[in-house]
Amino acid sequence: MTQHLLTLMDLGAHGLIDVLDRADELKRIRGRSDHPRPLANKSVAIILEKASARTRISFEVGIQELGGQAIVISGNELQLGKREPLQDAARVLSRYVHAVVYRTFGHDRIEKLAAFSSVPVINALTDKFHPCQVLADLMTIREHRGKDLTDLVVAWIGDGNNMAHSWILASALAGFELRLACPPNYQPSGDVVETARSLGAGQLVFTSDPLNAAHEAHVVTTDVWASMGREDESAIRRQAFAGFGVTAEHMRRAAEGAIFLHCLPAHRGEEVDAEVIDGPSSRVWDEAENRLHVQKALFDRFV
Ligand code: CP
Ligand code: NVA
Repeated sequence: MTQHLLTLMDLGAHGLIDVLDRADELKRIRGRSDHPRPLANKSVAIILEKASARTRISFEVGIQELGGQAIVISGNELQLGKREPLQDAARVLSRYVHAVVYRTFGHDRIEKLAAFSSVPVINALTDKFHPCQVLADLMTIREHRGKDLTDLVVAWIGDGNNMAHSWILASALAGFELRLACPPNYQPSGDVVETARSLGAGQLVFTSDPLNAAHEAHVVTTDVWASMGREDESAIRRQAFAGFGVTAEHMRRAAEGAIFLHCLPAHRGEEVDAEVIDGPSSRVWDEAENRLHVQKALFDRFV
């Protein structure tokens, strides 16, 4: 059966660590003449139905470094589900390319594409999950404090969104504590929490107080208050998220040597203060770079 990466659950606990280990290795040997080229003579379609900087560039560069060819197609051009059904497009793409990287809105869209695709489909962000980003985040954390993730405490402050959902699954798969401080109407989905809890590993702690979440945490992380597709809610969200921005006070409450992560793009003065994201505990540029390495590791595994 074709293996897809729609959520981190598709990797499983061992697969998650294998990908991180492989990403470390690929980072170490980047640019060397003996760097593996598992995508030689292969093509990958990158379909983007939302804006993207890091995702498009890191996937294109990564595919090229693995010897393959990337074909970037905008959602406007394809009009999947409108010009033709997703299931037809999936079957056609499978005859041309060796993998599909897909960024879309509803998670059901990527599920449908994958169901009819005979080549691996990799989730490059849906409204519900962003697995590639959280892999990059975990890689960055391991670079900072060592490979063992089980004694880790991560504080998520902000929206219970696609990034929060992928963090929740990561906590259950890798077995670390995740504290979530989200405003009352912006909690993560119950079904994702249930899935994580059913694995029986990791620990999810819900709090209404961001400072409590940050207390002695090793990582403090956040994301935009209005994700792509929610921009028209920006004004109302700015009110609802008042007090949920990451400030220097949160970093002071965190453990000694704690780091700040943000998937980017960031809004300074909203979800994070400039002195935090531009300050000494920020690892956001390493985090952005690590998208490249974890995605290369995924191709190595899936394609
Ligand atoms: N973090 C991330 O996925 O960035 P882009 O939306 O720019 O790809
Ligand atoms: N939650 C954000 C992540 C962007 C990389 C969004 O979906 O827009």
